[in-house]
Amino acid sequence: MSEVVLRMEKISKEFPGVKALDQVDLNVYESKVMALLGENGAGKSTLMKILSGVYQKTEGELYLLGERLEVTGPKDAMEKGIAIIHQELNLVEELSIGENIFMGRAPKKLGRIDWHTLYSEAEVLLKKLNLDLNPKTLVKGLSIGHKQMVEIAKALSFDARIIIMDEPTDALTDTETESLFKVIRELRDQGKSIVYISHRLPEIFEICDDITVLRDGQFIGEASVASINEDKLIEMMVGRKLEEQYPYLKQDSSETIFEIKQLENAFVRDITFELRKGEILGVAGLMGAGRTELAKSIYGAIRNTSAEMYLEGESLNIKSEADALREGIAYVSEDRKKDGLVLGMSVKNNMSLSSLKKYSRGIQVSKRAEKEMVEGYRDSMSIKTPSIDQKVKNLSGGNQQKVSIGKALSCEPKVLILDEPTRGVDVGAKKEIYELMNAFKEKGMAILMISSEIPEILGVCDRVMVMHEGRIAGILDRKDATQEKIMRLAIGV
Ligand SMILES: Nc1ncnc2c1ncn2[C@@H]1O[C@H](COP(=O)(O)OP(=O)(O)OP(=O)(O)O)[C@@H](O)[C@H]1O
Ligand SMILES: [Mg+2]
Repeated sequence: MSEVVLRMEKISKEFPGVKALDQVDLNVYESKVMALLGENGAGKSTLMKILSGVYQKTEGELYLLGERLEVTGPKDAMEKGIAIIHQELNLVEELSIGENIFMGRAPKKLGRIDWHTLYSEAEVLLKKLNLDLNPKTLVKGLSIGHKQMVEIAKALSFDARIIIMDEPTDALTDTETESLFKVIRELRDQGKSIVYISHRLPEIFEICDDITVLRDGQFIGEASVASINEDKLIEMMVGRKLEEQYPYLKQDSSETIFEIKQLENAFVRDITFELRKGEILGVAGLMGAGRTELAKSIYGAIRNTSAEMYLEGESLNIKSEADALREGIAYVSEDRKKDGLVLGMSVKNNMSLSSLKKYSRGIQVSKRAEKEMVEGYRDSMSIKTPSIDQKVKNLSGGNQQKVSIGKALSCEPKVLILDEPTRGVDVGAKKEIYELMNAFKEKGMAILMISSEIPEILGVCDRVMVMHEGRIAGILDRKDATQEKIMRLAIGV
């Protein structure tokens, strides 16, 4: 067993109305990657925010190499060798890579910033990460993968001993994920310790050495990755055996509900397909294939140079998202923080935002109907929140995603477009979202589901449309679809 570098002991954290952590333990070992796992709202991010000085604990002790450790704030944590890469990256877009790495502690000469040293040190750090980037480049032009690497470079510049990564691969391409893993292995081999949070179980088996599982703010167990399997891990996380991860619902879906002909714009070309009543049509493809752009061209966020659309036989003329909603087409964004939710508003107000009309008589909003609707979705999706009046920004990442799906469902659309609906969502809640999609199917509606997870597409969809470079490369029936066929179409062979 390798040495315990850091130990968190009996850590508790209370927020008004929520006990986020209840006597949780965590060991971080030298030269190891520790996975921190649990369902949405289990307390993973909160525990890591305590370790990195963002939050103060209510109770408990921390030990660094056996010595009592107090962390008074984020800067203090960094000085003590603890760095965190938050899921919402913390870079200043308008500054350069070098300025971001050395923010607030730029090297100085005669009282002035020593730019030469700053940029040459930044360059050394980027080289260590095998990055061919100019440190003078502004952060705003970088891909998410590169932004994340800049955060890692910043951690290295502090000579951090412990590096925490909270759902780092969430928005990365497969290639970016591979290079992140390469860097993680190198850091580990240099003696660093990593705490790794992710809902993607295959990654845990690929990159982590040990796991710690939390459930409902409590410590469930620690184990080595070599000693467990996926089923056991899921059982620890959700507290029960989870049978059938993908509940497929067979429906008669022969009738067309929605048709698109010859849709074309700057991002996609030659788009002609139909959606049938009661079906889920999956949209697969590589990053950049035009999947999100296709969704946006349907619901009015991208201007089309040509397009014919018919909903239940009626021709549609959609120019904005409001038009789309009025016609019965709702969209749940892949980027809930940017264009899905108003983070400073309550769960209730977010959910009823686009469907308010339904609860209004004249200018009066029926408070009771609104409350019943929101509580209904909270229960059916198991949204973890102390009350529906809680601000969305205080919910855990996965629970925010559920709120944004509830918001779309509350409009009772005929066509629902879901863009990566289960990204950042835990295994149990994923299944709840699939069940909701099935309930929607049963009512004769249609779903267009964009997803980068092929097992999910194969598991829940009736048909699969594969995109490649802005075009439809092929549409497969459920019975003919395989991982290999989808990949071949996606890469254009
Ligand atoms: N600032 C806050 N104010 C109030 N409650 C909070 C705050 N931050 C977190 N919580 C609550 O603490 C609990 C744990 O949240 P946390 O973000 O740690 O979960 P998580 O395990 O990271 O989940 P996810 O996988 O969804 O990211 C949740 O019930 C959440 O609503
Ligand atoms: Mg979290």
